[in-house]
Amino acid sequence: MQCSWKAVILLALASIAIQYTAIRTLTSKPFQLCSLPSPQNCGLGSQDAESSFERGAPGNGGCDDYPYFSLNSSRKTHILVLATTRSGSSFVGQLLNQHQDVFYLFEPLYHVQNTLIPRLSHNSKTMNRRVMLGASRDLLRSLYGCDLYFLESYIKPTPTNHTTDKLFRRGASRALCQQPVCDAFGPSDVNVDEGDCVKKCAALNMTLATEACHEKRHVALKIVRVPEIGDLRALVEDPRLNIKVIQLVRDPRGILSSRIETFRDTYRLWRIWRATGRRPYNLDLSQLTIVCDDFLSSVSTGLSHPYWLKGKYMLVRYEDLAKNPLLKTKEIYDYLGLPMDKNVEDWIHANTRGSNEPSAKHKFGTVRDSAANAESWRLKLSYDMVEHTQMVCHKVLQQLGYKAVKSAEELKNMSISVVQDKTFVPFL
Ligand SMILES: *[C@@H]1O[C@H](CO)[C@@H](O)[C@H](O)[C@H]1NC(C)=O
Ligand SMILES: *[C@@H]1O[C@H](CO)[C@@H](O)[C@H](O)[C@H]1NC(C)=O
Ligand SMILES: *[C@@H]1O[C@H](CO)[C@@H](O)[C@H](O)[C@H]1NC(C)=O
Ligand SMILES: *[C@@H]1O[C@H](CO)[C@@H](O)[C@H](O)[C@H]1NC(C)=O
Repeated sequence: MQCSWKAVILLALASIAIQYTAIRTLTSKPFQLCSLPSPQNCGLGSQDAESSFERGAPGNGGCDDYPYFSLNSSRKTHILVLATTRSGSSFVGQLLNQHQDVFYLFEPLYHVQNTLIPRLSHNSKTMNRRVMLGASRDLLRSLYGCDLYFLESYIKPTPTNHTTDKLFRRGASRALCQQPVCDAFGPSDVNVDEGDCVKKCAALNMTLATEACHEKRHVALKIVRVPEIGDLRALVEDPRLNIKVIQLVRDPRGILSSRIETFRDTYRLWRIWRATGRRPYNLDLSQLTIVCDDFLSSVSTGLSHPYWLKGKYMLVRYEDLAKNPLLKTKEIYDYLGLPMDKNVEDWIHANTRGSNEPSAKHKFGTVRDSAANAESWRLKLSYDMVEHTQMVCHKVLQQLGYKAVKSAEELKNMSISVVQDKTFVPFL
């Protein structure tokens, strides 16, 4: 009995491995950074490189083995926003998306998870995790090289003729809602609404999207599906890439509150707790412990400053960003080594003051009046729930400088801050 049970698992694992390998080999060219035959498309994008060395020798389209690898600091920056759901990552994503030299994608790993998870056996979490991580790293690496065709293997239904209308949150990427990728808007429509983009743009032509990516100087990807920064070490250390990680954290009490509002079904029992004042006996506590454990291990890795993260790591607390968006954004851009442009500044002004635009209600939209929003959980969670969260998460609260409250009065008194002043300088 035992034996056949093991055999079933082995068989399942083998079939996952085979499927994954098949996906990799059938759909992908070997890791290719230059898929278009134009010298413009290598390494430095459309920018004029002062040194032809950086583009490789003329005549081969600049597509040498390591088109990115240059000894010069003016090479492409590969920005990685590492976050968790409901931690304000859409907001941070927008701060990068708005920059005219940045090509931004919102959560490309969504497609990996969607495609692989149904095929993965539930028997081996470790194995599932490894397959997911391997696939995720491959995809991120390809996307940093602007190989958007690589993403097609994970999009369902599989795009035909390199065209799809199923790219997750396409409207969150400015470059994908503008000419030449989308003809629905003129050059003066600088701030296309996400919903309008999806409604009015024709299906996404991945060839044009790839070209748009190459046109930009830098690539920024936002991910919420890799919990531990250590899992990305191979990517961070890849000499062809120039990764800059921004790890975004938020008070777990705020994350919990936001998830309860957003994922109504999954967090139903938490809402019952809030409404009745009594904790349901079958409440899934892992929804909370996972957040805090992941934060704790990932942040501990980052803040311990391992040599492989040197010059490539910055921790940002969402609350600091919400409180002082302009200043904090400047710090982020300083760390990235990029000048902040006017688009970003304008966007901050338009989106961090109170306003009633409909997109404020969008489930995943960026927040209006960010500062008030960052602490609104205090008015939404009961003291019971907060106390419980503080118990489960006390280590990470302490590590990140979030103060525990000791009474319902303290919780609801907004003139007492629960965010301690704490400076997290980039690891340079
Ligand atoms: C990068 O290249 C430019 C132009 O060749 C040069 O002026 C600059 O000093 C170089 N930077 C580094 C760090 O080598
Ligand atoms: C893809 O392109 C080919 C050749 O242009 C065309 O015949 C075919 O109908 C296209 N397929 C779809 C699904 O549009
Ligand atoms: C997508 O754009 C490319 C480049 O402009 C073009 O050659 C191709 O025909 C387009 N594909 C479709 C299906 O329209
Ligand atoms: C809120 O806290 C402040 C500072 O401790 C205190 O002065 C004030 O009386 C409190 N307000 C309420 C309504 O308890």
